[in-house]
Amino acid sequence: MNENLHTLRCFGCGARIAGQEASPDFRCMQCGDLFEVEYAGWGQRQGHNRPNPGALKWLWRERRCSSEALDQSGVWRFRELLPILDNFGNAVSLREGNTPLYKLKRAAKALGIDQLFAKHQGMNPTGSFKDTGMTAALSVARERGFEWVACASTGNTSAAMAAYAARAGLRSLVLIPEGKIAWGKLSQAMDYGAVTCQLKSDFDGCVRLLTQIVKQAPIYLLNSVNPYRLEGQKTPAFEIAEAFDWTVPDHLIVPGGNLANSSALGKGFRELHELGLVARVPHISVIQAEGANPLARSFAETNGERMDPVEAHTRATAIRIGNPASWRKAARVVKETGGWCLDVTEAEIAIAKAELGAEGLGCEPASAVTLAGLKKLREQGKVAASETIVLLLTGHTLKDADYTINFHRGTLLSDDEVAGHQAEIAALQRNAVVVDPTPSAVLATLKGMAG
Ligand code: F0G
Repeated sequence: MNENLHTLRCFGCGARIAGQEASPDFRCMQCGDLFEVEYAGWGQRQGHNRPNPGALKWLWRERRCSSEALDQSGVWRFRELLPILDNFGNAVSLREGNTPLYKLKRAAKALGIDQLFAKHQGMNPTGSFKDTGMTAALSVARERGFEWVACASTGNTSAAMAAYAARAGLRSLVLIPEGKIAWGKLSQAMDYGAVTCQLKSDFDGCVRLLTQIVKQAPIYLLNSVNPYRLEGQKTPAFEIAEAFDWTVPDHLIVPGGNLANSSALGKGFRELHELGLVARVPHISVIQAEGANPLARSFAETNGERMDPVEAHTRATAIRIGNPASWRKAARVVKETGGWCLDVTEAEIAIAKAELGAEGLGCEPASAVTLAGLKKLREQGKVAASETIVLLLTGHTLKDADYTINFHRGTLLSDDEVAGHQAEIAALQRNAVVVDPTPSAVLATLKGMAG
């Protein structure tokens, strides 16, 4: 099969262009909407570009035993389904993907669900799911000869972009909202050598500014409006399907910020279905923080038809986004798959994060919205006990250690936010204790705990 088979199709007006023709801000010149990567012939039952499902499943599994760098990537292992490069030798990889799928026993029991899993995308090289998208889009940037790449970010995209750019020998520019990203993420951008500008603005303001900049200089935009990011970010759908032996779970629950990831995963499952690799697709639900919930509002008020931006506020800084670029794509995924979109409070996020932590699965606050959302869906009778459910954990717990420490010290949430949750929170808090350096003092502490 040829390596590069793709065209770009506008999500709004359906216009098709060659990849090279995209404008620097990746907006359609006709209608201003976003593009999606499309592969000729995949929608038809017969076609010379249509891959053979059985052969692919065998090949992808075989590659897990290969020592080739490209095969060891959980993104490029599936390269037949992302033919976006002229030459796969241009791929820039940090061996991303191939992340673990963990069974969540305690949370499943508490919710009365048989089969609950967490796909932990925080176990990627820079600690977030962004690596899967970045390996794809940054490889395109390199193949097209760009020297500079840039993104606006709530932190994780910038960490991933800076690392992949450094690997490829490209320069990178990061725009972040001052004081509103977790330190772990900022430190990564610095470590990987990005030019990091902290702006007195929010994420949405950083995006607006960068859109102007890329129109004035030959800088390749790596925000998730770049459709190649989504090609990499769709591959966890392949890993999940493979892990369930190609009988997909009933329900996938994803956090929603700029709403590219839910769009990408929906595309991944849709393509597997179109190509005959799976018999159905899972419901895909998107969960937002209550203070940054434009899509949840859109579903509540207009069933996902219209979206009004909001001014975003949440301690889950990764998803502090009021005007998500990919909302139309995500709304289509939720509707097409029969999923839901709802929001959860700051206390619900903090509790869910501590519960996941207590199962040995640390994650970022933004990732924990998935468990908080599942609880709500279960309360509302939208999820049956017999369903197989996968929560997508998007970032590693060490990205935002301050949040975790503040939760356990009892300094994270306000009294108003805690109201009604005191007992749950107290049962989860594990503040560090200061004791004398003697065996008896430490053992007395254990006794106190048991009592
Ligand atoms: N979880 C984490 C840990 C994130 O960093 C993000 C987005 C999301 C969830 C939401 O994903 O935007 O595709 O809906 N972070 C971006 C960034 C915006 O700049 O790192 P989304």
